[in-house]
Amino acid sequence: MSIIKTRATTDRVVVESFLGGGDHRTLADDVLDGLTRPFKELPPKHFYDSVGAELFDRICELPEYYPTRCEREILATRSGEIASLTGAGELVELGSGTAAKTALLLAAMHDAGTLERYVPIDVTESMVRASATRLVEEFDGLRVHGIVGDFERHLDRVPPSVDRVPRIVAFLGGTIGNFTPGSRRRFLRTLARLLGPDDFLLIGTDLVKDPKIIEAAYDDSAGVTAAFNRNVLNVVNRELDADFVPESFDHVAFFDRDREWIEMRLRAQRPQRVTVGRLGLRLTFAAGEELRTEISAKFTRERIEGDLAAAGLELVDQLTDQDGLFALNLARPGT
Ligand code: SAH
Ligand code: TRP
Repeated sequence: MSIIKTRATTDRVVVESFLGGGDHRTLADDVLDGLTRPFKELPPKHFYDSVGAELFDRICELPEYYPTRCEREILATRSGEIASLTGAGELVELGSGTAAKTALLLAAMHDAGTLERYVPIDVTESMVRASATRLVEEFDGLRVHGIVGDFERHLDRVPPSVDRVPRIVAFLGGTIGNFTPGSRRRFLRTLARLLGPDDFLLIGTDLVKDPKIIEAAYDDSAGVTAAFNRNVLNVVNRELDADFVPESFDHVAFFDRDREWIEMRLRAQRPQRVTVGRLGLRLTFAAGEELRTEISAKFTRERIEGDLAAAGLELVDQLTDQDGLFALNLARPGT
């Protein structure tokens, strides 16, 4: 694994990158696995190249995409409580993105006089750097230790908290829903190992609701989500020398009522052949054949409580927005 440790941008920002040349290989292995399955699929972490990150930002501003708005509302109204209940001095955030909502929680920790350090982890380097620089300017005294890495592989790179101050490990945006149920529990167990006895986990979960509302959030009228979904094919084209024609795939989003998750797929408009040069892989798609690109699970309180319990964690409080569409779950190691 290549480790590129960059010098401090300012004396309050350190960014470490654990994504090196080997990462073509993880994409390559993922694509080889996914595209040779009986039902083709691609894992979601490859959506977020710089174009994908930009499109995701636009998704968050869409009228149909309620999760961001709801989670922001909860953080805007309840961050003070979270800060005082946890007494946290550090915030570790997985899949931090632009960290726009996170600033609300950092502000509350700052006001409580406990804020010392923010540790964002994301695969997209430009976002880790931009948010680090912005936040040290916004909060005096704040230090940022950014990690450019894969939260499924690099959690052991999270530095221990300074002087063992309590910390919050945050996983916002409903990203936990992008795991299938077994992987989700496995991942929560890994997260639990990151927590000391005085630490807390803060997890955003989208809630089960009228499928029409969910489906609109993942198939907006402006077509931004469709562009985001197709962009994963551009990533595979560029990184693995493939020749997908993204425009010849339709964006599909449907809520699976039994599994209570929404699935994103790309449906071939006509029969096509695709070559993935770097893998020496030739594929065919039948007309109407679908490629699964993401699931996003929706939760009941019982489901998240059960998942947390399976990881030895206890739900302390579930905070929801006014309309009850989204929840922030505060958990801690069970006693
Ligand atoms: N937390 C932000 C962004 C959510 S989108 C919000 O709530 O709006 C998901 C984020 O997780 C993206 O920024 C993406 O780059 C990052 N991400 C996805 N898979 C990842 C992985 N395996 N490791 C690290 N970051 C990942
Ligand atoms: N984690 C986000 C979610 O599940 C990501 C997301 C939003 C997404 N819209 C999408 C992923 C569309 C793929 C396609 O809500």
